[in-house]
Amino acid sequence: MTDDIALELRALDVTFGDGAASVRAVNSVSFQVRRGTSFGLIGESGSGKSTVLRAVAGLSGTYGGTILLDGTEIPMPRPKSFFSRVQMVFQDPYGSLHPRKMVRAVLLEPLQIHGIGNRDRRIAETLRAVGLTPDFAYRYPHQLSGGQRQRVAIARCLVLEPELLLLDEPTSALDVSVQAGVLNLLDSLRRERGLTYVLVSHDLRVVAHMCDRIAVMTEGRVVEQLDADAIYEDRCAHPYTRTLLHASRGYRRKDTPDAAE
Ligand SMILES: Nc1ncnc2c1ncn2[C@@H]1O[C@H](COP(=O)(O)OP(=O)(O)O)[C@@H](O)[C@H]1O
Ligand SMILES: [Mg+2]
Repeated sequence: MTDDIALELRALDVTFGDGAASVRAVNSVSFQVRRGTSFGLIGESGSGKSTVLRAVAGLSGTYGGTILLDGTEIPMPRPKSFFSRVQMVFQDPYGSLHPRKMVRAVLLEPLQIHGIGNRDRRIAETLRAVGLTPDFAYRYPHQLSGGQRQRVAIARCLVLEPELLLLDEPTSALDVSVQAGVLNLLDSLRRERGLTYVLVSHDLRVVAHMCDRIAVMTEGRVVEQLDADAIYEDRCAHPYTRTLLHASRGYRRKDTPDAAE
């Protein structure tokens, strides 16, 4: 079954700084993400979730342990070809889009870097796929709402037709009223395109709604891995997971449609 594994982390360690001032942000984290599934990483602020994603993307500098894509260790620094297969969506759609770049330029850039043709058609199709009309290509970020900006950030990833998306709290910076729309978009994109996700959130309701399997992190370590069903059925074992569960106020079961709000 190992050929079914899109991404695997073996004993990932990330340390910032040296000596007495060093911080071990990620401590021996291992997990496997099956192709076509959505894997959730949950834990409180500072538990090391973003550092795990950044290490996979090759953005965290050196790390210990092994990261494998389709069973093959990914070289450091990440080669250009890696980014046509793996893309990352960041938390803050305000910081991640250049204020002076029109949406068209934002989507054109990865196509140019990777030498991909049919650019205008691809841009129009990708905008449509994220729920925006093709005329959004001629807008600047300040002419977009937060939800629209995050849709553009998602389009920037999708335009390269990757297999795996690393999503770092993709809706936490957005108004609650637009969060569910963006999460539902991500969910249907994954199903339609057979994508694999690693989704980071501090909100158990978001990962329970979006993910098949979930790893619970605290203080740089994964303390429990479980199927989303186990959360709905209240079968989580680790006391920390139970604390998270009870802290999700207003937590609702899967059969209520607005569980992601
Ligand atoms: N570039 C960095 N330099 C130093 N420490 C960092 C850096 N990035 C993260 N950290 C530290 O690593 C730990 C984990 O951070 P992070 O991965 O951002 O957590 P999370 O995403 O779960 O909130 C925190 O203690 C944070 O302060
Ligand atoms: Mg984070």
